[in-house]
This record gives sequence, C-alpha cells and structure tokens, in this order.
Amino acid sequence: MSLNTALRRGLWLPLFLRLAFALPSNASRDYPLVVVGEFSHPETFENIATRHDGQLLLTSAVSSTLYQVCPFKPDQIEGLVDIPETTGLFGIAELEEDVFYVASANLSSTHAVAGSNAVWRVDLRERNRCSRLNETARPELTPVRVANITSARLLNGMCRLAKDNASTLLVADSGGGKIFKVDVHSGSFEVVIEDEALGNTPTGFQVAVNGIYTHEPYLYFTNLNRGTFGRIPISAATGILRGPIDVIVPDLPGDDFILAPDGEKAWVAMNGRNTLVEVDIPRRQARVVVESGYLASASAVSLGRTLLDQGRLYVSSAAVPDSLFDNNGTATTRGIVVRVDPPNV
Ligand SMILES: *[C@@H]1O[C@H](CO)[C@@H](O)[C@H](O)[C@H]1NC(C)=O
Ligand SMILES: *[C@@H]1O[C@H](CO)[C@@H](O)[C@H](O)[C@H]1NC(C)=O
Ligand SMILES: *[C@@H]1O[C@H](CO)[C@@H](O)[C@H](O)[C@H]1NC(C)=O
Ligand SMILES: *[C@@H]1O[C@H](CO)[C@@H](O)[C@H](O)[C@H]1NC(C)=O
Ligand SMILES: *[C@@H]1O[C@H](CO)[C@@H](O)[C@H](O)[C@H]1NC(C)=O
Ligand SMILES: *[C@@H]1O[C@H](CO)[C@@H](O)[C@H](O)[C@H]1NC(C)=O
Repeated sequence: MSLNTALRRGLWLPLFLRLAFALPSNASRDYPLVVVGEFSHPETFENIATRHDGQLLLTSAVSSTLYQVCPFKPDQIEGLVDIPETTGLFGIAELEEDVFYVASANLSSTHAVAGSNAVWRVDLRERNRCSRLNETARPELTPVRVANITSARLLNGMCRLAKDNASTLLVADSGGGKIFKVDVHSGSFEVVIEDEALGNTPTGFQVAVNGIYTHEPYLYFTNLNRGTFGRIPISAATGILRGPIDVIVPDLPGDDFILAPDGEKAWVAMNGRNTLVEVDIPRRQARVVVESGYLASASAVSLGRTLLDQGRLYVSSAAVPDSLFDNNGTATTRGIVVRVDPPNV
C-alpha cells in the first residue's frame, strides 16, 4: 500500500513530496507514456496484474471491487467482483492461469483494522467458460476466502513462492515487516521471513516491505519506509531465507514493482514522486525512465502478455488533474492506468 488513501484525502501529497529522499541522479526520462484510462471511481488504484488475454486486473485500497481494464479500449472499466466484508484490496497474484488471489484489509491510517487481513481466491475461469457460449449468461464470480491472516498488521504485496508451485503464495506484511507463506488449498499460513530490513524505522511513513516478487533463487522487495530495493535468497521449496539480505539500491523509496522475465531489470512505481524507475539489477543502478503527473501516486507495475504488448509496462496510479483542484486546495484524485513502452519492444 501507499499513500493512496491519504492522497485521496489531500493530506499526504504535500508531505510526501517534501520527503527528503534523493532520486537516482542519472535521470533519463525517455520512455513514452500513454494513458489507458482515467476514472473517477475508484479514485485510486493500489495494484495491477495482467491476465493471459491481456486484460488488466486492478485493486484499490478504498474499494472492495476487483476491477478490469482492457488496455486496448481507452477509458473503460468493469467491476468484476466484489469481495465481501472488506473496504480495500491490496496485492494480487496469479497461481494457475486465470486463478488470481488478492489480499484484503480494512485500512485505517497505515495499518489494517484488527482481524480484517485476508487472502481471497477469484477464479476467472468460471467466467470464461460461460461467456464463450453465451455472453448474457455470464455467471457471478464467487470469491472464496482462503485464509484470515489474523496476526498481520497490513497485508500488501503478494507473489507466488516459486514458478512451478501453484499452491503457495508469499504475502508482505507492511506493518509487521514480515513475509507470510500461505497454502491456498489448506488455508494454513506462517511467517517465513521476519527481518529488520523488511520492517519500519521509528520515523517516517509507517509502510515497510511493500512490493515482493520472486525470481528464483531470490525474493525481491521494496521497503518504502527504509527506501530500499533489495533481494533475499530463499528456498524455492519452503520460502525460508538462505543467506543475507542484499540491498541492491539503498535510496529507492518505491511502492510495488515488476521484474523483467530475465530478472535483469526491475521497474519500480515511485508513489508520491511522479516517476517510474528502472533498476539495472546486475549493475545495481537505478534511473528515472518516466516522469509524469499521471504517476503522482504510481503504485504498481505489470507486464503486457499478448503479441500486441509484450514487454510493455502497465502502471496503476492516482493523480489529480489540475481541473480537479478546488479553491481551498482539496484534492480529488482519479484512478489512473498508463502504459509505458521501454525501447526495443
Ligand atoms: C548515465 O547513464 C548513461 C546510460 O544509462 C551512461 O552512459 C552515462 O555514463 C551515465 N552518466 C553518469 C554521469 O553516470
Ligand atoms: C471491514 O469492513 C467491512 C465493510 O465495512 C465490514 O463488513 C467488516 O466487518 C470489517 N472487518 C473488520 C474486521 O472490522
Ligand atoms: C443466454 O442466456 C440467457 C440467460 O440465461 C438466455 O435467456 C438466452 O436465451 C441465452 N441465449 C442463447 C443464445 O442461448
Ligand atoms: C475468516 O473470518 C470470517 C469472519 O470472522 C469467518 O466468517 C470465516 O469463516 C473465516 N475464514 C477462514 C478461512 O478462516
Ligand atoms: C509448494 O510449496 C509448498 C510450501 O513450501 C510445498 O510444501 C510444496 O511441496 C510445493 N509444491 C511444489 C509442487 O513444489
Ligand atoms: C473545500 O471546499 C469544498 C467545496 O468546494 C468543501 O466541500 C470542503 O469541505 C472544503 N474543505 C476544507 C478542508 O475546507
């Protein structure tokens, strides 16, 4: 999660913009950005994932709806399914084709209301089978509550444990500085990694480990509070830490991110900074590749998966178009989805 909710209230944006982190200095701002959609509801997005057919799934920390946006049809959004008994959705990950998992929580400031952190399964195959036969007979999707992660402070980023493991998720706890492992079939969960490097310092915005993503043999992470992007060698079988935590970029206060399929680059959404940063992992260098008002609350990144958009990036965000600032400076944000085109794709 991020400052999205706070930003929506117009409170955190000025504060965040004043935070004293240095941006990577060798800035090159050359990747083109195309707006896919700008929406008044929801007013902010929290995370994004790409389906095999190219459609984008989006969560919002201020809505219980899982949204879908087609990257080839500008400004159209569809509410796919409502997750019951929750006020916000966070990380999202796919384990089998079209079987997605989302983290839910009732956000209160920077942590979740006690007892509200949960993991849900949304099986989009239920929808596909029927829609092929008869568009008007599309059944309601039924989200299934997989687990209540009762000991978490705030569930945030989510990813799979390993490429070939369709039953196990890792979920970041941004408040507790921990990584939970969740068995999506039995619903059992446990803390697999807990380390100072994933936690909060006593000061600053109290959102620590934020995005997570596995690229074997590492679990990559951002820690917003500490301003770090790093990786942890883990066992692909168990998720247990196998060596020291490696901070790759020490001054990168990022939100969620995605890795290139070869694991050599990461693209990090720089919430509150109007930018998307590209990390060259082997060289341990970060540089700004896009700077835009549309990235004011850039929260997460996903990759295109169709022939038309392979290698392109989609970023979930929130922003305040100039026209929406009222006289007393109260901001009304809009949910934003953009596409960014790295060169040679
Ligand atoms: C900045 O980055 C470019 C390529 O990304 C590199 O060629 C150049 O040497 C760098 N400049 C500095 C001052 O680091
Ligand atoms: C979270 O919010 C929902 C919607 O308001 C509510 O039904 C649910 O009881 C809340 N959960 C907790 C643990 O407070
Ligand atoms: C599609 O499903 C709807 C609702 O079940 C039904 O009324 C309609 O006749 C179906 N159309 C076709 C072509 O089967
Ligand atoms: C999670 O908690 C909810 C509300 O307290 C309860 O209805 C549900 O059965 C629990 N689910 C699991 C999988 O523990
Ligand atoms: C998936 O991960 C779980 C938990 O670590 C492990 O017990 C299971 O054997 C793994 N499954 C596969 C197919 O690797
Ligand atoms: C700002 O003005 C709007 C009306 O334009 C009003 O609804 C809102 O309460 C005001 N906010 C503050 C903080 O004064």
